Amino acid sequence: MDLIVLPDPADCARRAADLVTDAVEDVGRERRVVLGLATGSSPLPTYRELIERHAAGRLDFSRTTGFLLDEYIGLPAGHPQAYREVILREFAGPVGLDPGHLHSPDGTAADPATAASGYEHLIVEQGPVDLQILGIGSNGHIGFNEPGSPFDSTTRVTRLADSSVADNARFFDDPADVPRQVITQGLATISRARHLLLIATGAAKAAAVAAAVEGPATPELPASVLQRHPRSTLVIDDEAAAHLSSRAAAPQRELSRGSRR
Ligand code: GLP
Repeated sequence: MDLIVLPDPADCARRAADLVTDAVEDVGRERRVVLGLATGSSPLPTYRELIERHAAGRLDFSRTTGFLLDEYIGLPAGHPQAYREVILREFAGPVGLDPGHLHSPDGTAADPATAASGYEHLIVEQGPVDLQILGIGSNGHIGFNEPGSPFDSTTRVTRLADSSVADNARFFDDPADVPRQVITQGLATISRARHLLLIATGAAKAAAVAAAVEGPATPELPASVLQRHPRSTLVIDDEAAAHLSSRAAAPQRELSRGSRR
């Protein structure tokens, strides 16, 4: 697990964008790049940085395929908070990623369980994901794998923890509108990506980050699955690092030199 602690969210965005840029450029020379895309507010500054690099002609996403981590069940297609819409608006559209190469679980399907297993098969068929971007929920979830999600879980229908409903209510006019059911890639699905990149900023993530990095690897803290992955990178700011023991955070500060681009 590589831990990169930087002073603030803007530094994190540049560093995370560097890692995405490397993947897109290196892999893109050989074949289509498969990017795993997360929603939530944590990756947004990284997406904005990537949009700027694309707009400046420095980064080309025409050979990139995107896979979303998760999707709400029950929002009508095109709902502004449906995760597919969020990613189209905040990232894929502005960087010119072809919507035909942007895949997401179908939260409008009449049979969500079948839609979930179909999505798992599609990832197996077109994967593995080269670089998976992740955020972390305040309860330690990744994707929508809530505490208790087995490490060997695959894409499935699941129910949000009350704390996640409360966390996500800010995106909806009425908290009662937050869907309770979702389709999410499982922890095993996510772990098949070649490289996991978790971005966390702000004090609200400090406890979950410390548990994910320094606590036991346990389904009770889903993000701790990163400890078991051969290549995982955490890019976090000082506030999100606040609960880490100084032993864990200090040596990594050596790496904190800002962006190369
Ligand atoms: C949602 C998403 C997660 C995301 C989490 C954190 O629950 N399903 O993928 O990591 O929110 O969101 P934020 O980055 O807004 O704190």
